Amino acid sequence: MNLSKPSKEQLKTTLKAIGLMPLARAIYRRRFAMSHYARQIAYIKRWAWLDTEDSNFYYKLTSRNRDQLAHTVAAVSGAPYIEITRYFDELESDNELRAHIKRGISSAGYGKDIQVEFGRRLGWYAFIRCLKPQVIIETGVDHGVGACVITSALMRNAAEGHAGRYYGTELRESAGKLLGGEYAHFGQILYGDSIESLQQFDQTIDLFINDSDHSADYEYREYQTIVGKLSPNGLILGDNSHVTDKLSRFSTEQGRHFLFFAEQPADHWYPGAGIGISFSQTMAQATFRRSPIVSTP
Ligand SMILES: C[S@@+](CC[C@H](N)C(=O)[O-])C[C@H]1O[C@@H](n2cnc3c(N)ncnc32)[C@H](O)[C@@H]1O
Repeated sequence: MNLSKPSKEQLKTTLKAIGLMPLARAIYRRRFAMSHYARQIAYIKRWAWLDTEDSNFYYKLTSRNRDQLAHTVAAVSGAPYIEITRYFDELESDNELRAHIKRGISSAGYGKDIQVEFGRRLGWYAFIRCLKPQVIIETGVDHGVGACVITSALMRNAAEGHAGRYYGTELRESAGKLLGGEYAHFGQILYGDSIESLQQFDQTIDLFINDSDHSADYEYREYQTIVGKLSPNGLILGDNSHVTDKLSRFSTEQGRHFLFFAEQPADHWYPGAGIGISFSQTMAQATFRRSPIVSTP
């Protein structure tokens, strides 16, 4: 109800006189705070009726958040911002990949209403495209959307003369169905407990993405298991840094830098996860050497 200023003042005087001012103020404050969540509640009501999966959500980022992610990847990698946005466009407009994922989701019966958007995986993709890692591990594969995003980046890197290979670790043998067709030429899934697979892994790791068991203890043990296997500029992307401080702590202990990118999903109730980014001192020095802030006389 929109009241004129004099009417508002009159109402306030009356409410004060009859002792209802605290109640009126509480009602106003509750409505004001709730208005910040109204859209999320509407999304929840709609989402509850859909036939989609309940853990990855596969939303898009808001355009402002996509831009923030491009700057984050550029700042860490030292690649120009414009190059990173080109990689984002490349992934988003990859209709073959989209068709492959759509067919896979449909034939695996994962949910008829699932529509896959890449969220923070845009950042994973751009890091792979600009840094050209040779060995990538993603722990936790699930349907295989991350696996397809990563192998599609490796496919493009290979076409430009930079070969690389993907290894996913996954507990459930029924998972990973999307990693098929030409994408499967660029990687494989190591089935079994992730830490056991990581202990047996005998190659140097250039990019490690943690996304398996999301308990803080397990996450930390994954980092401890691979620390001696990372290449000097090896990059770690943690998928649990919106929940725990394990990657931040690990980075401090190992003399590495840590940053966190927070997701803002578009048109979805989920508040967003993020990317914890752990990178070496040498990578940071190489990045800043490329763009000095003090010009030499
Ligand atoms: C959030 S999903 C991974 C999503 C995937 N990274 C993506 O971006 O598309 C987590 C997966 O980790 C797997 N997982 C959980 N605990 C695990 C463990 N101890 N070892 C290996 N995989 C595990 C689950 O089965 C599940 O498929």
